[in-house]
Amino acid sequence: MSRYILSLDQGTTSSRAILFNDEARIVGQGQYGNTQYFPQPGWVEHDPEEIWEMQLQAARDAIAKISADASQIAAIGITNQRETAIVWDRETGKPVYPAICWQDRRTAEMCEELKRRGLEREIGEKTGLVVDAYFSATKIAWILDHVEGARERAECGELLAGTVDTWLIWKLTGGAVHATDVTNASRTMLFDLHRRVWDERLMAELNIPASLLPAVRMSGGSFGTSLKEWFGAEIPILSVLGDQQAALFGHTCLEPGSAKNTYGTGCFILMNTGSEAVVSRHGLLTTVAWGMGDELYYALEGSVFVAGAAVQWLEEGLGVIDNPGQSEQKAREVEDSGGVVVVPAFTGLGAPYWDMYARGAVFGLTRGTSSAHLVRATLESLAFQSRDVIGAMEKDAGMPLAELRVDGGAVRNDLLMQFQADILGSEVTRTTYAETTALGAALLAGLLAGFWNRDELRSFNQAEKTFTPAMPEAEREQRYHVWQDAVSRTRGWEKH
Ligand code: G3P
Repeated sequence: MSRYILSLDQGTTSSRAILFNDEARIVGQGQYGNTQYFPQPGWVEHDPEEIWEMQLQAARDAIAKISADASQIAAIGITNQRETAIVWDRETGKPVYPAICWQDRRTAEMCEELKRRGLEREIGEKTGLVVDAYFSATKIAWILDHVEGARERAECGELLAGTVDTWLIWKLTGGAVHATDVTNASRTMLFDLHRRVWDERLMAELNIPASLLPAVRMSGGSFGTSLKEWFGAEIPILSVLGDQQAALFGHTCLEPGSAKNTYGTGCFILMNTGSEAVVSRHGLLTTVAWGMGDELYYALEGSVFVAGAAVQWLEEGLGVIDNPGQSEQKAREVEDSGGVVVVPAFTGLGAPYWDMYARGAVFGLTRGTSSAHLVRATLESLAFQSRDVIGAMEKDAGMPLAELRVDGGAVRNDLLMQFQADILGSEVTRTTYAETTALGAALLAGLLAGFWNRDELRSFNQAEKTFTPAMPEAEREQRYHVWQDAVSRTRGWEKH
Protein backbone atom coordinates (compact mmCIF):
# COMPACT_ATOMS: atom_id res chain seq x y z
CA MET A 1 0.00 0.00 0.00
CA SER A 2 1.33 3.44 -0.94
CA ARG A 3 2.37 5.81 1.83
CA TYR A 4 2.46 9.56 1.76
CA ILE A 5 3.71 12.70 3.50
CA LEU A 6 1.45 15.72 3.83
CA SER A 7 3.35 19.00 3.70
CA LEU A 8 1.58 22.14 4.92
CA ASP A 9 3.16 25.34 3.58
CA GLN A 10 1.55 28.33 5.26
CA GLY A 11 3.04 31.37 3.48
CA THR A 12 2.45 35.10 3.57
CA THR A 13 0.08 35.18 0.63
CA SER A 14 -1.25 31.64 0.50
CA SER A 15 -1.91 28.48 2.46
CA ARG A 16 -0.78 25.46 0.48
CA ALA A 17 -0.81 21.76 1.10
CA ILE A 18 1.12 19.24 -0.97
CA LEU A 19 0.94 15.48 -0.74
CA PHE A 20 4.18 13.67 -1.59
CA ASN A 21 4.53 9.94 -2.24
CA ASP A 22 7.37 7.81 -0.91
CA GLU A 23 9.57 8.85 -3.84
CA ALA A 24 9.01 12.53 -2.96
CA ARG A 25 6.84 13.04 -6.04
CA ILE A 26 3.88 15.42 -5.81
CA VAL A 27 0.59 13.53 -6.00
CA GLY A 28 -1.93 16.07 -4.70
CA GLN A 29 -2.16 19.79 -3.98
CA GLY A 30 -4.51 22.36 -2.53
CA GLN A 31 -4.11 26.11 -2.19
CA TYR A 32 -6.03 29.13 -0.93
CA GLY A 33 -5.06 32.80 -0.78
CA ASN A 34 -4.75 34.67 2.54
CA THR A 35 -6.50 37.99 3.00
CA GLN A 36 -4.04 40.80 3.69
CA TYR A 37 -5.20 43.58 6.01
CA PHE A 38 -3.48 46.97 6.07
CA PRO A 39 -5.29 48.86 8.89
CA GLN A 40 -2.73 51.68 8.94
CA PRO A 41 0.33 52.63 6.88
CA GLY A 42 3.10 50.18 7.72
CA TRP A 43 0.73 47.72 9.42
CA VAL A 44 0.09 44.25 7.96
CA GLU A 45 -2.28 41.77 9.59
CA HIS A 46 -3.72 38.31 8.85
CA ASP A 47 -6.73 36.53 10.33
CA PRO A 48 -5.48 33.50 12.33
CA GLU A 49 -8.84 31.71 11.97
CA GLU A 50 -8.73 32.16 8.22
CA ILE A 51 -5.15 30.85 8.16
CA TRP A 52 -6.27 27.70 9.97
CA GLU A 53 -9.44 27.17 7.93
CA MET A 54 -7.69 27.70 4.58
CA GLN A 55 -4.80 25.48 5.60
CA LEU A 56 -7.18 22.71 6.68
CA GLN A 57 -9.20 22.99 3.48
CA ALA A 58 -6.04 23.00 1.34
CA ALA A 59 -4.89 19.82 3.09
CA ARG A 60 -8.25 18.13 2.57
CA ASP A 61 -8.17 19.14 -1.12
CA ALA A 62 -4.68 17.68 -1.53
CA ILE A 63 -5.76 14.38 0.06
CA ALA A 64 -8.91 14.26 -2.07
CA LYS A 65 -6.78 14.30 -5.26
CA ILE A 66 -5.76 10.70 -4.69
CA SER A 67 -7.90 7.72 -4.03
CA ALA A 68 -6.21 7.04 -0.74
CA ASP A 69 -7.15 6.87 2.86
CA ALA A 70 -5.73 9.33 5.40
CA SER A 71 -4.33 6.35 7.30
CA GLN A 72 -1.82 6.02 4.43
CA ILE A 73 -0.36 9.41 5.35
CA ALA A 74 2.63 8.56 7.50
CA ALA A 75 3.46 12.09 8.61
CA ILE A 76 2.68 15.78 8.43
CA GLY A 77 5.42 18.35 7.87
CA ILE A 78 4.73 22.02 8.63
CA THR A 79 6.54 24.96 7.13
CA ASN A 80 5.45 28.55 7.57
CA GLN A 81 5.89 32.27 7.06
CA ARG A 82 8.22 33.14 9.91
CA GLU A 83 8.08 35.85 12.62
CA THR A 84 4.32 36.49 12.26
CA ALA A 85 2.93 36.55 15.80
CA ILE A 86 -0.39 35.31 17.23
CA VAL A 87 -1.72 35.47 20.82
CA TRP A 88 -4.78 33.40 21.80
CA ASP A 89 -6.84 32.26 24.75
CA ARG A 90 -5.68 28.94 26.17
CA GLU A 91 -9.25 27.84 27.00
CA THR A 92 -11.36 29.08 24.11
CA GLY A 93 -8.67 29.01 21.43
CA LYS A 94 -9.81 32.45 20.25
CA PRO A 95 -7.09 34.84 19.10
CA VAL A 96 -7.13 38.06 21.15
CA TYR A 97 -5.94 40.08 18.15
CA PRO A 98 -5.21 39.46 14.45
CA ALA A 99 -1.87 37.92 13.50
CA ILE A 100 0.75 40.66 13.19
CA CYS A 101 2.60 39.84 10.00
CA TRP A 102 6.39 39.80 9.70
CA GLN A 103 6.18 42.74 7.28
CA ASP A 104 4.47 44.94 9.88
CA ARG A 105 6.54 47.96 10.99
CA ARG A 106 4.39 49.18 13.93
CA THR A 107 7.01 48.26 16.53
CA ALA A 108 9.87 50.20 14.89
CA GLU A 109 9.80 52.75 17.71
CA MET A 110 9.84 49.96 20.33
CA CYS A 111 12.97 48.67 18.62
CA GLU A 112 14.58 52.14 18.70
CA GLU A 113 13.84 52.18 22.43
CA LEU A 114 15.56 48.79 22.90
CA LYS A 115 18.58 50.23 21.12
CA ARG A 116 18.53 53.34 23.33
CA ARG A 117 18.54 51.02 26.33
CA GLY A 118 21.78 49.57 24.97
CA LEU A 119 20.41 46.07 24.25
CA GLU A 120 21.53 45.80 20.64
CA ARG A 121 24.77 44.00 21.38
CA GLU A 122 23.30 41.54 23.85
CA ILE A 123 20.43 40.73 21.47
CA GLY A 124 22.88 40.26 18.61
CA GLU A 125 25.15 37.96 20.60
CA LYS A 126 22.39 35.84 22.05
CA THR A 127 19.85 35.65 19.23
CA GLY A 128 21.99 36.28 16.12
CA LEU A 129 19.53 38.99 15.04
CA VAL A 130 19.61 42.74 14.55
CA VAL A 131 17.08 44.75 16.57
CA ASP A 132 14.27 45.21 14.07
CA ALA A 133 10.47 45.26 13.94
CA TYR A 134 10.71 42.25 11.57
CA PHE A 135 10.97 39.74 14.44
CA SER A 136 8.19 38.33 16.65
CA ALA A 137 9.02 39.51 20.17
CA THR A 138 8.03 43.16 19.84
CA LYS A 139 4.84 42.11 18.03
CA ILE A 140 3.82 39.90 20.98
CA ALA A 141 4.70 42.71 23.41
CA TRP A 142 2.61 45.13 21.33
CA ILE A 143 -0.46 42.88 21.59
CA LEU A 144 -0.04 42.57 25.37
CA ASP A 145 0.30 46.35 25.67
CA HIS A 146 -2.57 47.33 23.35
CA VAL A 147 -5.32 44.75 23.75
CA GLU A 148 -7.45 45.51 26.76
CA GLY A 149 -6.81 43.12 29.61
CA ALA A 150 -4.28 41.07 27.62
CA ARG A 151 -1.32 41.71 29.89
CA GLU A 152 -3.22 40.75 33.05
CA ARG A 153 -4.58 37.62 31.36
CA ALA A 154 -1.10 36.72 30.11
CA GLU A 155 0.30 37.11 33.62
CA CYS A 156 -2.39 34.76 34.97
CA GLY A 157 -1.37 32.17 32.38
CA GLU A 158 -4.63 32.45 30.42
CA LEU A 159 -3.02 33.28 27.07
CA LEU A 160 -0.66 31.50 24.69
CA ALA A 161 1.55 32.98 22.01
CA GLY A 162 3.33 31.64 19.02
CA THR A 163 4.33 31.96 15.41
CA VAL A 164 2.19 30.42 12.65
CA ASP A 165 3.73 26.95 13.08
CA THR A 166 2.75 26.95 16.77
CA TRP A 167 -0.78 28.04 15.91
CA LEU A 168 -1.18 25.24 13.34
CA ILE A 169 0.30 22.57 15.64
CA TRP A 170 -2.04 23.69 18.42
CA LYS A 171 -5.07 23.59 16.12
CA LEU A 172 -4.15 20.26 14.52
CA THR A 173 -3.61 18.59 17.90
CA GLY A 174 -6.81 20.06 19.35
CA GLY A 175 -4.84 22.18 21.83
CA ALA A 176 -2.77 19.26 23.13
CA VAL A 177 0.61 20.61 21.96
CA HIS A 178 1.91 24.17 22.38
CA ALA A 179 5.30 23.96 20.71
CA THR A 180 7.55 25.52 18.11
CA ASP A 181 10.78 24.38 16.48
CA VAL A 182 14.28 25.78 16.77
CA THR A 183 14.17 27.59 13.41
CA ASN A 184 11.01 29.53 14.22
CA ALA A 185 12.24 30.20 17.76
CA SER A 186 15.42 31.68 16.28
CA ARG A 187 13.33 34.40 14.57
CA THR A 188 11.67 35.78 17.70
CA MET A 189 14.52 37.83 19.27
CA LEU A 190 13.98 35.87 22.52
CA PHE A 191 15.81 32.63 21.77
CA ASP A 192 19.39 32.08 22.87
CA LEU A 193 20.99 30.29 19.91
CA HIS A 194 23.86 28.97 21.95
CA ARG A 195 22.06 27.70 25.07
CA ARG A 196 19.03 26.73 22.92
CA VAL A 197 16.49 28.16 25.38
CA TRP A 198 14.22 31.17 25.71
CA ASP A 199 16.40 33.84 27.32
CA GLU A 200 15.06 34.98 30.72
CA ARG A 201 16.72 38.38 30.55
CA LEU A 202 15.35 39.21 27.10
CA MET A 203 11.89 38.03 28.15
CA ALA A 204 12.13 40.38 31.13
CA GLU A 205 13.42 43.31 29.03
CA LEU A 206 10.54 42.85 26.59
CA ASN A 207 8.08 42.14 29.37
CA ILE A 208 6.91 38.82 27.92
CA PRO A 209 5.85 36.21 30.51
CA ALA A 210 7.43 32.77 30.08
CA SER A 211 4.02 31.05 30.37
CA LEU A 212 3.05 32.57 27.03
CA LEU A 213 5.85 30.94 25.06
CA PRO A 214 5.73 27.50 23.39
CA ALA A 215 8.10 24.63 24.17
CA VAL A 216 11.01 24.59 21.71
CA ARG A 217 11.64 21.28 19.94
CA MET A 218 13.99 20.11 17.20
CA SER A 219 12.67 20.68 13.65
CA GLY A 220 12.65 16.96 12.96
CA GLY A 221 10.86 15.19 15.81
CA SER A 222 7.48 14.64 17.35
CA PHE A 223 5.02 17.53 17.54
CA GLY A 224 1.99 15.45 18.49
CA THR A 225 -0.73 13.92 16.34
CA SER A 226 -3.48 15.61 14.35
CA LEU A 227 -7.01 14.88 15.56
CA LYS A 228 -8.95 12.22 13.68
CA GLU A 229 -11.72 14.68 12.88
CA TRP A 230 -9.50 16.76 10.57
CA PHE A 231 -8.54 14.12 8.02
CA GLY A 232 -10.27 10.90 9.08
CA ALA A 233 -7.16 9.42 10.71
CA GLU A 234 -4.67 10.56 13.32
CA ILE A 235 -1.43 11.63 11.64
CA PRO A 236 1.85 12.33 13.47
CA ILE A 237 3.45 15.74 12.91
CA LEU A 238 7.12 14.92 12.37
CA SER A 239 8.70 18.09 11.02
CA VAL A 240 8.30 21.81 11.61
CA LEU A 241 10.53 24.53 10.19
CA GLY A 242 10.36 28.10 8.92
CA ASP A 243 9.79 28.40 5.18
CA GLN A 244 13.21 29.75 4.24
CA GLN A 245 14.94 27.04 6.23
CA ALA A 246 12.63 24.47 4.63
CA ALA A 247 13.68 25.72 1.19
CA LEU A 248 17.34 25.33 2.21
CA PHE A 249 16.59 21.73 3.21
CA GLY A 250 14.49 21.20 0.08
CA HIS A 251 17.47 22.27 -2.02
CA THR A 252 19.45 19.67 -0.04
CA CYS A 253 21.95 22.35 0.94
CA LEU A 254 23.22 19.99 3.60
CA GLU A 255 26.91 20.89 3.47
CA PRO A 256 28.53 24.01 4.97
CA GLY A 257 28.98 26.64 2.25
CA SER A 258 25.94 25.54 0.24
CA ALA A 259 23.37 28.27 -0.29
CA LYS A 260 19.98 28.99 -1.77
CA ASN A 261 18.14 32.07 -2.93
CA THR A 262 14.34 32.21 -3.05
CA TYR A 263 13.12 34.96 -5.37
CA GLY A 264 9.71 35.97 -4.10
CA THR A 265 8.35 39.37 -3.17
CA GLY A 266 11.77 39.79 -1.62
CA CYS A 267 14.81 37.54 -1.79
CA PHE A 268 15.74 35.26 1.07
CA ILE A 269 19.29 33.96 0.86
CA LEU A 270 20.54 31.35 3.32
CA MET A 271 23.94 29.72 3.53
CA ASN A 272 24.50 26.58 5.60
CA THR A 273 27.37 27.16 8.06
CA GLY A 274 27.23 23.71 9.64
CA SER A 275 27.32 23.20 13.39
CA GLU A 276 28.87 26.61 13.96
CA ALA A 277 26.73 29.68 14.68
CA VAL A 278 28.78 32.19 12.68
CA VAL A 279 28.39 35.72 14.04
CA SER A 280 27.97 38.16 11.20
CA ARG A 281 30.22 41.20 10.95
CA HIS A 282 28.67 42.23 7.68
CA GLY A 283 25.00 42.86 8.42
CA LEU A 284 23.60 39.35 8.14
CA LEU A 285 21.52 37.33 10.56
CA THR A 286 22.65 34.15 12.28
CA THR A 287 19.80 31.70 12.35
CA VAL A 288 19.08 28.04 12.94
CA ALA A 289 18.97 26.03 9.70
CA TRP A 290 17.34 22.97 11.30
CA GLY A 291 17.72 20.69 14.30
CA MET A 292 17.44 16.94 14.42
CA GLY A 293 18.29 14.54 17.26
CA ASP A 294 20.80 16.51 19.26
CA GLU A 295 22.38 18.08 16.19
CA LEU A 296 21.75 21.72 15.36
CA TYR A 297 22.75 23.28 12.04
CA TYR A 298 23.07 27.01 11.57
CA ALA A 299 22.82 29.37 8.63
CA LEU A 300 23.67 32.91 7.74
CA GLU A 301 20.71 34.73 6.26
CA GLY A 302 20.28 37.90 4.29
CA SER A 303 16.88 39.22 3.32
CA VAL A 304 16.35 41.61 0.44
CA PHE A 305 13.02 43.39 0.95
CA VAL A 306 12.16 44.19 -2.67
CA ALA A 307 12.82 41.72 -5.49
CA GLY A 308 9.71 40.37 -7.26
CA ALA A 309 7.95 43.44 -5.86
CA ALA A 310 10.14 45.56 -8.16
CA VAL A 311 8.87 43.58 -11.16
CA GLN A 312 5.34 44.14 -9.86
CA TRP A 313 6.13 47.86 -9.80
CA LEU A 314 7.08 47.68 -13.49
CA GLU A 315 3.65 46.22 -14.17
CA GLU A 316 1.37 48.07 -11.77
CA GLY A 317 3.28 51.28 -11.07
CA LEU A 318 4.82 52.03 -14.47
CA GLY A 319 2.66 49.93 -16.76
CA VAL A 320 5.66 49.00 -18.94
CA ILE A 321 4.87 45.26 -18.85
CA ASP A 322 1.52 43.46 -18.74
CA ASN A 323 2.62 40.71 -16.37
CA PRO A 324 5.83 39.63 -14.60
CA GLY A 325 6.42 36.85 -17.15
CA GLN A 326 6.76 39.49 -19.87
CA SER A 327 9.76 41.11 -18.20
CA GLU A 328 12.25 38.75 -19.87
CA GLN A 329 10.94 39.36 -23.37
CA LYS A 330 10.89 43.12 -22.78
CA ALA A 331 14.41 43.14 -21.34
CA ARG A 332 15.66 41.21 -24.40
CA GLU A 333 14.54 44.08 -26.67
CA VAL A 334 17.78 45.82 -25.69
CA GLU A 335 21.33 44.47 -25.51
CA ASP A 336 22.04 45.85 -22.07
CA SER A 337 20.61 48.28 -19.56
CA GLY A 338 22.12 51.24 -21.44
CA GLY A 339 23.85 52.51 -18.31
CA VAL A 340 20.60 52.65 -16.32
CA VAL A 341 20.74 51.46 -12.70
CA VAL A 342 17.53 50.93 -10.70
CA VAL A 343 17.84 50.72 -6.90
CA PRO A 344 14.44 49.45 -5.71
CA ALA A 345 14.83 50.55 -2.08
CA PHE A 346 11.09 51.26 -1.90
CA THR A 347 10.81 50.31 1.78
CA GLY A 348 14.39 51.00 2.79
CA LEU A 349 17.22 48.53 2.43
CA GLY A 350 17.48 45.15 4.19
CA ALA A 351 20.64 43.07 4.49
CA PRO A 352 23.45 43.95 4.50
CA TYR A 353 22.62 47.67 4.79
CA TRP A 354 19.64 47.78 7.20
CA ASP A 355 18.75 51.33 6.26
CA MET A 356 15.10 52.16 7.00
CA TYR A 357 15.55 55.59 5.45
CA ALA A 358 16.94 54.63 2.02
CA ARG A 359 14.48 55.10 -0.87
CA GLY A 360 14.38 53.89 -4.45
CA ALA A 361 16.12 55.68 -7.31
CA VAL A 362 16.86 55.38 -11.03
CA PHE A 363 20.28 56.53 -12.25
CA GLY A 364 21.84 57.07 -15.66
CA LEU A 365 18.76 58.19 -17.61
CA THR A 366 19.45 59.70 -21.03
CA ARG A 367 17.24 60.82 -23.89
CA GLY A 368 17.76 57.36 -25.38
CA THR A 369 16.51 55.43 -22.33
CA SER A 370 13.56 53.22 -23.19
CA SER A 371 11.14 51.23 -21.08
CA ALA A 372 13.09 48.10 -22.06
CA HIS A 373 16.22 49.57 -20.46
CA LEU A 374 14.23 50.24 -17.29
CA VAL A 375 12.90 46.68 -17.24
CA ARG A 376 16.35 45.23 -17.81
CA ALA A 377 17.91 47.40 -15.11
CA THR A 378 15.15 46.42 -12.67
CA LEU A 379 15.78 42.71 -13.29
CA GLU A 380 19.48 43.32 -12.82
CA SER A 381 18.79 44.95 -9.45
CA LEU A 382 17.55 41.60 -8.12
CA ALA A 383 20.89 40.04 -9.02
CA PHE A 384 22.94 42.95 -7.66
CA GLN A 385 21.08 42.89 -4.35
CA SER A 386 21.65 39.14 -4.10
CA ARG A 387 25.37 39.70 -4.70
CA ASP A 388 25.40 42.28 -1.88
CA VAL A 389 24.14 39.59 0.49
CA ILE A 390 26.26 36.73 -0.86
CA GLY A 391 29.41 38.87 -0.75
CA ALA A 392 28.71 39.56 2.92
CA MET A 393 28.13 35.83 3.52
CA GLU A 394 31.40 34.84 1.95
CA LYS A 395 33.23 37.32 4.16
CA ASP A 396 31.43 36.18 7.31
CA ALA A 397 31.73 32.47 6.63
CA GLY A 398 35.29 32.76 5.36
CA MET A 399 34.40 30.43 2.50
CA PRO A 400 33.51 31.09 -1.10
CA LEU A 401 30.13 30.21 -2.49
CA ALA A 402 30.37 27.00 -4.48
CA GLU A 403 27.01 27.17 -6.15
CA LEU A 404 23.75 29.03 -5.62
CA ARG A 405 20.58 26.96 -5.84
CA VAL A 406 17.50 28.98 -6.68
CA ASP A 407 13.73 28.80 -6.46
CA GLY A 408 10.74 31.14 -6.54
CA GLY A 409 8.75 32.80 -9.31
CA ALA A 410 11.58 34.75 -10.96
CA VAL A 411 13.81 31.73 -11.58
CA ARG A 412 11.92 30.96 -14.79
CA ASN A 413 13.50 34.12 -16.18
CA ASP A 414 16.63 32.82 -17.96
CA LEU A 415 17.97 36.30 -18.64
CA LEU A 416 17.89 37.11 -14.93
CA MET A 417 19.44 33.77 -13.93
CA GLN A 418 22.27 34.19 -16.45
CA PHE A 419 22.90 37.72 -15.19
CA GLN A 420 22.87 36.40 -11.61
CA ALA A 421 25.60 33.89 -12.49
CA ASP A 422 27.55 36.59 -14.35
CA ILE A 423 27.42 39.11 -11.54
CA LEU A 424 28.27 36.54 -8.85
CA GLY A 425 30.97 34.76 -10.81
CA SER A 426 29.46 31.48 -9.50
CA GLU A 427 27.19 28.84 -10.94
CA VAL A 428 23.47 29.28 -10.42
CA THR A 429 21.41 26.09 -10.37
CA ARG A 430 17.72 25.92 -11.01
CA THR A 431 16.30 22.67 -9.66
CA THR A 432 13.47 20.44 -10.77
CA TYR A 433 11.04 21.24 -7.97
CA ALA A 434 9.22 24.55 -8.03
CA GLU A 435 7.83 23.74 -4.56
CA THR A 436 11.13 23.61 -2.72
CA THR A 437 9.70 24.88 0.58
CA ALA A 438 7.01 22.22 0.83
CA LEU A 439 9.52 19.63 -0.36
CA GLY A 440 11.92 20.58 2.46
CA ALA A 441 9.31 19.97 5.16
CA ALA A 442 8.33 16.70 3.46
CA LEU A 443 11.93 15.49 3.12
CA LEU A 444 12.56 16.13 6.81
CA ALA A 445 9.30 14.45 7.90
CA GLY A 446 10.02 11.54 5.53
CA LEU A 447 13.46 11.13 7.08
CA LEU A 448 11.82 10.72 10.49
CA ALA A 449 9.13 8.41 9.08
CA GLY A 450 11.79 6.16 7.56
CA PHE A 451 10.85 6.90 3.90
CA TRP A 452 14.47 7.59 2.97
CA ASN A 453 17.80 8.05 4.65
CA ARG A 454 20.12 11.03 4.77
CA ASP A 455 22.33 9.84 1.92
CA GLU A 456 19.36 9.46 -0.37
CA LEU A 457 18.20 13.04 0.14
CA ARG A 458 20.60 14.38 -2.42
CA SER A 459 19.01 12.35 -5.17
CA PHE A 460 15.85 14.44 -4.81
CA ASN A 461 15.52 17.88 -6.38
CA GLN A 462 18.28 17.65 -8.95
CA ALA A 463 19.57 20.37 -11.25
CA GLU A 464 17.21 21.27 -14.07
CA LYS A 465 19.50 23.94 -15.57
CA THR A 466 22.83 25.36 -14.50
CA PHE A 467 23.83 28.89 -15.48
CA THR A 468 27.59 29.36 -15.78
CA PRO A 469 29.22 32.79 -15.49
CA ALA A 470 30.14 34.19 -18.91
CA MET A 471 30.93 37.84 -18.11
CA PRO A 472 34.62 38.82 -18.05
CA GLU A 473 35.76 39.52 -14.49
CA ALA A 474 36.76 43.14 -15.18
CA GLU A 475 33.30 43.91 -16.51
CA ARG A 476 31.65 42.14 -13.58
CA GLU A 477 33.57 44.15 -11.03
CA GLN A 478 33.07 47.41 -12.90
CA ARG A 479 29.31 46.90 -13.09
CA TYR A 480 29.14 45.93 -9.45
CA HIS A 481 31.14 48.98 -8.48
CA VAL A 482 28.61 51.21 -10.30
CA TRP A 483 25.77 49.44 -8.48
CA GLN A 484 27.40 50.04 -5.09
CA ASP A 485 27.86 53.69 -5.95
CA ALA A 486 24.17 53.95 -6.88
CA VAL A 487 23.12 52.29 -3.60
CA SER A 488 25.25 54.68 -1.57
CA ARG A 489 23.39 57.61 -3.12
CA THR A 490 20.01 56.29 -1.95
CA ARG A 491 21.03 55.98 1.70
CA GLY A 492 19.15 58.10 4.23
CA TRP A 493 17.00 59.72 1.52
CA GLU A 494 13.81 59.68 3.62
CA LYS A 495 15.43 61.99 6.17
CA HIS A 496 15.33 64.94 3.69
O1 G3P B 1 10.64 35.89 7.03
C1 G3P B 1 9.45 35.91 6.29
C2 G3P B 1 9.36 34.73 5.37
O2 G3P B 1 9.38 33.55 6.10
C3 G3P B 1 8.14 34.84 4.49
O3 G3P B 1 8.21 33.99 3.44
O4 G3P B 1 7.44 32.96 1.37
O5 G3P B 1 5.81 33.38 3.17
O6 G3P B 1 6.69 35.30 1.92
P1 G3P B 1 6.96 33.90 2.40
